[in-house]
Formats: sequence, structure tokens, C-alpha cells
Amino acid sequence: MDKNLNNRMNEKDIKDDEIKRQNYYMELCKEWVSKKSEELGRPLTCTAKTFGCQMNARDSEKLLGILLKIGYVETDSENADFVLYNTCTVRENANLKVYGHLGYMQNLKKKNPGMMIALCGCMMQEEDVVEKIKKSYRFVDIVFGTHNIFKLAELIYSRITAGHMIIDIWKDTDKIVENLPIERKYSFKSGVNIMFGCDNFCSYCIVPYVRGRERSRKPEDIIDEIKGLVDDGVVEVMLLGQNVNSYGKGLDKPVTFAELLKMVDDIEGLERIRFMTSHPKDLSDDLIEVMKNSKRICTQLHLPLQSGSNRLLKIMNRHYTKESYLELAGKIKKEIPDIALTTDIIVGFPGETEEDFEDTLDVVKQVRYDSAYTFIYSKRTGTPAAKMDCQIPKEVVKERFDRLLKVVQDISTEETLKRVGQTLPVLVEDINTHDENLVTGRLSSNTVVHFNGTADMIGKIVNVRLDEAKGFYYLGTLV
Ligand code: SAH
Ligand code: SF4
Ligand code: F3S
Repeated sequence: MDKNLNNRMNEKDIKDDEIKRQNYYMELCKEWVSKKSEELGRPLTCTAKTFGCQMNARDSEKLLGILLKIGYVETDSENADFVLYNTCTVRENANLKVYGHLGYMQNLKKKNPGMMIALCGCMMQEEDVVEKIKKSYRFVDIVFGTHNIFKLAELIYSRITAGHMIIDIWKDTDKIVENLPIERKYSFKSGVNIMFGCDNFCSYCIVPYVRGRERSRKPEDIIDEIKGLVDDGVVEVMLLGQNVNSYGKGLDKPVTFAELLKMVDDIEGLERIRFMTSHPKDLSDDLIEVMKNSKRICTQLHLPLQSGSNRLLKIMNRHYTKESYLELAGKIKKEIPDIALTTDIIVGFPGETEEDFEDTLDVVKQVRYDSAYTFIYSKRTGTPAAKMDCQIPKEVVKERFDRLLKVVQDISTEETLKRVGQTLPVLVEDINTHDENLVTGRLSSNTVVHFNGTADMIGKIVNVRLDEAKGFYYLGTLV
């Protein structure tokens, strides 16, 4: 865009202009897709694969929205005309998976040279990854990052006209582009970004480097989006941010997360509200109060612990202690007795001793999580922890990981048993994958329930008696 023009425009005009610009590219791509499709005598297909977290998944819905708008038809198969991988780099495993898929795609593309392959997401924000793609994966067509997903149509158009690999990675952005097409995976539930990026710099974590600085969306934009979703049949929203408890800090008119949640709770027609992730250091009493007084905010709270050792929590840069975490968890349980607490735990952080690990086990035993995601520490280049001495030997980590998993699973089983016999509301999500006479849904606590039902119940909230607990899910009966 002409720089002088930019100077003369106010913020709103620039945003409107970006949407106009992208709509223009969508039109150009649409003409191209339509022409290709006529030549081939069949529609062009596309697929978008998500490798990361809920935020990554929400980005994929936006990217798919653009692909469908320009005329591609969605397919599950990776043998499609446009294949998009939305990558994650939080742990090394996530990276390895992407390279695995690319190896497979190389052969597919040989058979279908017209195929376009695009890579985007967190992994692409790492310079060495992009270098590797440029060198060893020449068949990739488009590479972009986390800050410019709204530009997909423009990038596709550049690829078509330039005839070579297009790479467009932004280091950071303060831009939030609203109102581009979105293709939701579920008709009845949706993620809603309330903020982007992260400023916490936990010493093991790569997210702040690949997602950029924390930026909150304006409350009115969030509320408008949710109202639109409700009009479109959505009954459950999941408010998304790396640390929702610090929502609103940089806004012209600061709003707290508790205040935002209250506004969302007032939206008519919405039945369930979830959010993630809540950093324990910023969880306010106001938030507990809003949760306690709401019938729609789900009785579930994801409160990542990472470690129970004060020594490690400090090195991890988490800004809370074992004691303050336990106090917080206790307060939440006291105020909201049926709350299901869930967590994330890392095993094998550099220098973790047996004593540190036992502190973690101790917190798990005291808090009694409904479920916990346990991760083996993965060294991420560029983070402070990657440079720390005393990386823990694999065998030691594996042994601790197995011990932790056993404790987590035993407690989770005992906690789920407590609800057996109760009749609770379940949002029906799908026909059961193994038995078509059953449907699968979720409790307010987010636990999965399988019970007798039919496809017309999908998207509705029904009462189900929980007959049997099977570890992390229930078998129930519709009442
Ligand atoms: N913003 C969220 C977490 C996002 S990443 C929070 O602060 O809780 C999701 C989880 O991945 C983290 O909670 C952490 O448990 C795990 N994780 C992040 N970096 C990791 C690493 N280097 N190795 C292993 N697990 C990691
Ligand atoms: Fe990573 Fe910490 Fe930010 Fe969560 S809060 S995304 S763990 S840096
Ligand atoms: Fe992965 Fe990026 Fe999410 S690194 S966990 S996809 S923010």
C-alpha cells in the first residue's frame, strides 16, 4: 500500500482497507480456482490440518474460511489440490510430525504437480525451520507465519503469478484484522480469540517468540462476534488466550477478564462459556466471583501448574509458589464446590531433582485434578531453559513421567467415580465413532459422556444419568 495514503488514514480506515484489499485478492483467486476447475472438469479440493492448540485450531478455521470463499471444496484427504499445514512448535514432537507429513506429501505432489502446499503457524516463525524448508523441501509453495494469516488469498495469488515458493513471515504485529470469513468445525460450538500472543516468557516456552507480544481484542468486537455466533446456532464458546487473566491490559479503555466474562455471560441465547488458559499468577477474586454467580460459565477451570517445586517455579519464571497455588486451588474449590480443575505439568525440566518432582506429586495429590496433561520437557532453541545445565537423562524423566501418570490417572478415576448416579446436562457433540446407536457429548466439567441418542440431538443440551465411570469418560442414559 502507498505509504502516504497510510499516513492520511486513521486506524479504522486502515483496517477497513486491509479487509477490502483481502476481498480483492479473494476475488482474483476465485476466478483462478474457477478457471482451473473448468479445465479439470471437477472442483478443486482443499484440506487444512492443525497440529497445535485451540488457538491454532481457530486460525485453521479462519484459513479454511478463506479457502472455501475462493472456491475450494473441503476434503479430509491430504491428496488435495491445496494442502495447508498449520504447525505447532511447543514441543519437538510437534515439529517432527510436520516433517513426517511433508515427506509423504513429496510423493503425492509428484503424482499431482498442480497441487499447492502451504505451511503456516508457530513453527514457521523459527528462522532455522524456514531455512530447512527452503533447502530441503523445495516443493512447498507458500510459507507464512502466525501474524499474517489474514493474507492467505494474497499469498496464493502471489504464488500463482510468481511461479515460485512464496515466503512471508512477520516478526510481530500490532494489527488485529477482524471480519474475514471463518469456517467453523462445529456448528454449535466455537473458539473465540480474546487476545493474541504472550508476554510471560516462562523459561521453557517458545510461544512468546512465535506468537509475539500480548494484544487484546476490544470487548465490543468480541461481544459482536459471539452475538453473531449465537445467531448462527452456537450455544457454547471457548474464550481463547495464552493467559486470559491478563486480558484487557493494553486496551485504550482497560477491561479486566472478569468484566469481559460478565459481558459474555449476559449475551442472550448462549448456554455455555469456557475459557483457557488461566495463568495462576493473575487469577483474581473477581473472576472466581463471576464464575460462582453464573449458570452458563462451565464448572471447569484449566490451571496449569507446570511444577510443584518452588525452586523450579522460580527458574521457570512462573511467579507463584507451591503454597500460593495450593491456596488458590483451595479457594476456588471452596467457592465453586463442583468445579473440575485440570492442569498441565512438565516433567524433567533442567535440574529437576527427585525432591522437586515429589513436590509436583504432592500438589497433584492435594488438588486432585479431574484430569492433567503431562508433558516431558522438550528443549526449545532460543528459550532460556535450553541453555541451562543439567538437562535430565531420558531414563530418569521417563521413570518420573510414568509415576506421575499413574497418580494422575488414579485420582482422575476416583474423581469421575464421584459423579456416578447423578443426572447432569450434556451438550451432544457427535454420533459415537464406534457405535451409531450412541451419541457423545460433554458435561459442564468437560468430561466426555457416551449415551443412547440420535443425530438430531447434536448441538442440543440434554439431561443424562451417569451410569458408569470408565476412567476419563462416562457411559450414561438419556432421561
Ligand atoms: N499459555 C498456557 C500454555 C500454552 S503451551 C499456560 O501458560 O499455561 C501448553 C502447555 O505446553 C504448557 O502449559 C506446558 O505445560 C507445555 N509446554 C510448554 N513448553 C514446553 C516445553 N518446552 N516442554 C514441554 N512442555 C511444554
Ligand atoms: Fe508459554 Fe508461559 Fe506464555 Fe503459557 S504463559 S504461553 S507457558 S510463556
Ligand atoms: Fe503450539 Fe503455537 Fe499453540 S506453538 S501450542 S500452536 S500457540
